[in-house]
Amino acid sequence: MKTYSIALIPGDGIGKDVIEANWQVLQTAAKRGGFALEGTSFPWSCAYYLETGAMMPTDGIEILRKFDAILLGAVGWPAEVPDSTSLHGLLLPIRKRFVQYANIRPHRLLPGVQGPLRSDGFDILCIRENTEGEYSGAGGRVHSGTADEVAIETAIFTRTGVERILRFGFEQARARRKKLASVTKSNAQKHSMVFWDEVTREVAKDYPDVEVAPYHIDAIAARMVLSPESLDVIVASNLFGDILTDIGAAMQGGLGYAASANINPDRSAPSMFEPVHGSAPDIAHLGIANPIAAIWSGVMMLEHLGEGHAASEVMSAIESVTARGIGTVAGKDSTESIMRAVIAALN
Ligand code: IPM
Ligand code: MN
Repeated sequence: MKTYSIALIPGDGIGKDVIEANWQVLQTAAKRGGFALEGTSFPWSCAYYLETGAMMPTDGIEILRKFDAILLGAVGWPAEVPDSTSLHGLLLPIRKRFVQYANIRPHRLLPGVQGPLRSDGFDILCIRENTEGEYSGAGGRVHSGTADEVAIETAIFTRTGVERILRFGFEQARARRKKLASVTKSNAQKHSMVFWDEVTREVAKDYPDVEVAPYHIDAIAARMVLSPESLDVIVASNLFGDILTDIGAAMQGGLGYAASANINPDRSAPSMFEPVHGSAPDIAHLGIANPIAAIWSGVMMLEHLGEGHAASEVMSAIESVTARGIGTVAGKDSTESIMRAVIAALN
């Protein structure tokens, strides 16, 4: 039997609840699909940091490297560990070291879910650059604590990084409705974003079948709200994609439905699948976190592993559950009851 080894990192807060729910759904899907998912769980989290002084062991990356995929819950417990420490100690190094340069986030309304917009017919795929740009971590502070203090955060855009994410965006658009929005701000950022636009035009030559248009980040933020049906695939830098995908999450009814995949397209290292939501300390012990975002991320993992049939079975199960009003109102259904409904729909 085909067996995939999966690293599970539940992390903090509701990350633990949604990973558990997701894993049970995935096990059901595997049994039905005639393959096996073998999970190894790692306790790497803020609690682990408080115990050991690090978010993961020094060889954490090497430990993860041998897995077929990583499922992550959430990282962060700001009351005890600053976010800048926890995220730069676990989530961000995994994305960068494993060259998971494409962060894919689907935004559409599940049946039965009420979004805040008048429009309910949108289907947007956001492709966010995930390893460099504004979040490269380059910079520093001098004259700390004085009136002359200076903080510098340098955005880094490499030709390799920009070209590969744009190419990935074009490929996704080609497989969908063949429309690509390339997010820029070249009217104000005269180095990085002028470069981004140039590379967009260069790569576009290889995709004559894809209709590509540049949009400034501010304009496309408004367009997502005002005319979301006009958008298909959006490709954006790390910061711009981060912001747009929270708008996308809001449009689709909230973070409880926002899934994501951190993909290494070359498959030279494992890819990681995680809901967009964080650890949600306010509801962490209540058992009411919506596991749908995590389960949808599990669907993306199955697709990546080549188990397309199982992936579409789980996606249909999610949709039939929300169509019946289960998991569609924040706090109404428990994590466990939503998970059970998805499993029942699968079977
Ligand atoms: C996300 C999150 C992270 C990011 C944070 C927690 C560093 O907001 O996955 O969108 O910006 O990448
Ligand atoms: Mn974000």
